[in-house]
Amino acid sequence: MTKNTDFVFKKQYFRFYGQVRFEKGNTLKILALGDVVGKDAVTYISANLRNFKRVSKIDFTVINAENSAAGNGIDEASAEALLNAGADCLTTGNHVFRVSSFYDYLEESKLVIRPVNYPKRCPGRGYTVLDCGFQRILVINAIGRTGLDPSDCPFDAIDAVLEKEKGNYTYSVLDIHAEATSEKAALANYFDGRIDVVFGTHTHVQTADCRTLPGGTAFITDLGMCGPVDSILGVQKDIIIERFRTGMPKRFRFATGEIKACGAIFELEKNSPARVTAISF
Ligand SMILES: [Fe+2]
Ligand SMILES: [Fe+2]
Repeated sequence: MTKNTDFVFKKQYFRFYGQVRFEKGNTLKILALGDVVGKDAVTYISANLRNFKRVSKIDFTVINAENSAAGNGIDEASAEALLNAGADCLTTGNHVFRVSSFYDYLEESKLVIRPVNYPKRCPGRGYTVLDCGFQRILVINAIGRTGLDPSDCPFDAIDAVLEKEKGNYTYSVLDIHAEATSEKAALANYFDGRIDVVFGTHTHVQTADCRTLPGGTAFITDLGMCGPVDSILGVQKDIIIERFRTGMPKRFRFATGEIKACGAIFELEKNSPARVTAISF
């Protein structure tokens, strides 16, 4: 079977003939979903995403998949499942390199990206430009430097991408994968008016601060996660409580039970401010 590493003919056909309504001037709706946590969440997305997209008239979907593999991280099975479920692009974060057998896939894929401010020697790419009907969408993935492993300056790395890709895209999207709310807000405000959509990921809790910044960028500090509701950030509660009580290492296991998908819908129109609404299903 053809892997979802690039646009296969079937996808292109669907995009062109199925989405001709996205002519210039029309609204483009982007769905962004937060960190998918574990196999059950991947199954849930596979079962429900297409229907949600149809009802909400979504044109382009980006999902953070850094915790989508059965153990953690991302692997070929979880990436392919999410792409086949209807995701157009997968972003990641600090867990992207957990599964070494995924490195070749990352190298090949134009649909799965890793933080752009990681060293150049790391496998994969930090941004991608994808066709969506008549629009070309630049998606950038960056990682914060507060409370996470060292990386290059995300401001400079993103600036360099915008400079390099100038004129090559219609709309731009940034997933800033970071621990600190202030760092996410600083990046969103620094790129206000230059990137259409900025959302945060990594902290797994949806924030109630959807807003359009003065320059027209739509921003939410964190999309939240797609994962088990009765958990602590997707992990079994007793493990996390014990870790906090003792400070001792304990292997993480994803929780089971009811799944909820959290994210946001961004509405884009050329020469108008972008709009954002938090969603869950
Ligand atoms: Fe995560
Ligand atoms: Fe993360």
